[in-house]
Amino acid sequence: MSRMVVGLMVLGGLVAAWLFSPAYLSPSVPDVGLATDTPTLERGRYLVNAGGCISCHEGDAGGLSGGMAIESPFGVFYASNITPDPATGTGGWTGSDYVRAIKHGRSPDGRFYFPAFPYRSYADVTDEDALAIASWLNAQPAVVNNVPAHDIPGWIGRWQLAPWNTLANLGEPVPALYDDAQLARGAYLARHLGHCGECHTPRNALGISDYANEFAGGDMPDGHVPAINSAALSNWSEDDLALFLFLGLLPDGEYVGGKMEPVIEHNTGQLSDEDRQAMAAFFKRGL
Ligand code: HEC
Ligand code: HEC
Repeated sequence: MSRMVVGLMVLGGLVAAWLFSPAYLSPSVPDVGLATDTPTLERGRYLVNAGGCISCHEGDAGGLSGGMAIESPFGVFYASNITPDPATGTGGWTGSDYVRAIKHGRSPDGRFYFPAFPYRSYADVTDEDALAIASWLNAQPAVVNNVPAHDIPGWIGRWQLAPWNTLANLGEPVPALYDDAQLARGAYLARHLGHCGECHTPRNALGISDYANEFAGGDMPDGHVPAINSAALSNWSEDDLALFLFLGLLPDGEYVGGKMEPVIEHNTGQLSDEDRQAMAAFFKRGL
């Protein structure tokens, strides 16, 4: 056998091993159905707010029909149409399809999503919450809207997300850190559903969040994002922070601006006082 043939066989073996490595296989999720009962839909609506989905997916065509440009160091990504239109949105998706997308970053046909969709943070959202979100999304009016293709350099491909997900520890179980129910709730909202770290935690060159420096401040194409760890918030009281999450009012009497404004408007400003207080408790006492 020539060396070239052996080389090709070795290469073929590597590619096969790669294709069938767990990072490449689409994760199996429980076969769950979408609910239509009012309490689940109400819960879903609340969780869509807590998840900040509207900040990215709100569309000019109406509802969560997508099209918003999300700038990143890797190019411009356009948020998808997540209304249940069969041709341009998520019409026909099952509950499992939504759970796989939100928590595992994979499309119904197994393709990888780009992490401009913050599935790394959503990975630890409970299946039950992801399903309530899905049920609410599925109950909204379908909007026909074709969103633009992502404007990214040719060397970036979806397959690269297989090793990225492994390096980002996607799918690694997180230990339950808090015995205190309020701190646990605040951590769940801030770290996972509210994905505060997607902007406020620094990233490495591959765009993977550096959890060792959680909330130590991040960088966006349009500027620096302030730190919100306990050192940075040392002059804030828990009530200052809860009020800020409601109204965007800073302790010095100014209103916050920039990319934080939609977070207050669509996410934290829509939550219950209890949930805002839990987030404030987590940042002040849980970190
Ligand atoms: C920071 C912006 C951002 C936020 C916040 C966000 N998304 Fe997305 N989402 C995106 C982008 C960008 C894509 C496209 C990803 C791709 O093409 O790889 C996407 C894709 C999706 C898809 C796949 C749609 C399809 O047709 O394949 C679903 C479902 C989805 N998002 C649901 C949600 C839900 C539910 C929330 C809130 C819990 C949410 N997203 C929050 C940016 C966001
Ligand atoms: C889309 C990116 C983004 C997300 C998501 C985000 N933030 Fe922010 N946040 C910012 C930016 C940018 C600023 C600075 C705004 C300005 O001053 O113009 C900011 C400011 C703040 C401030 C004020 C800090 C200071 O010292 O002035 C706090 C507190 C804060 N964010 C908390 C949170 C919490 C809690 C969450 C999660 C619920 C969150 N942020 C999610 C981008 C984000």
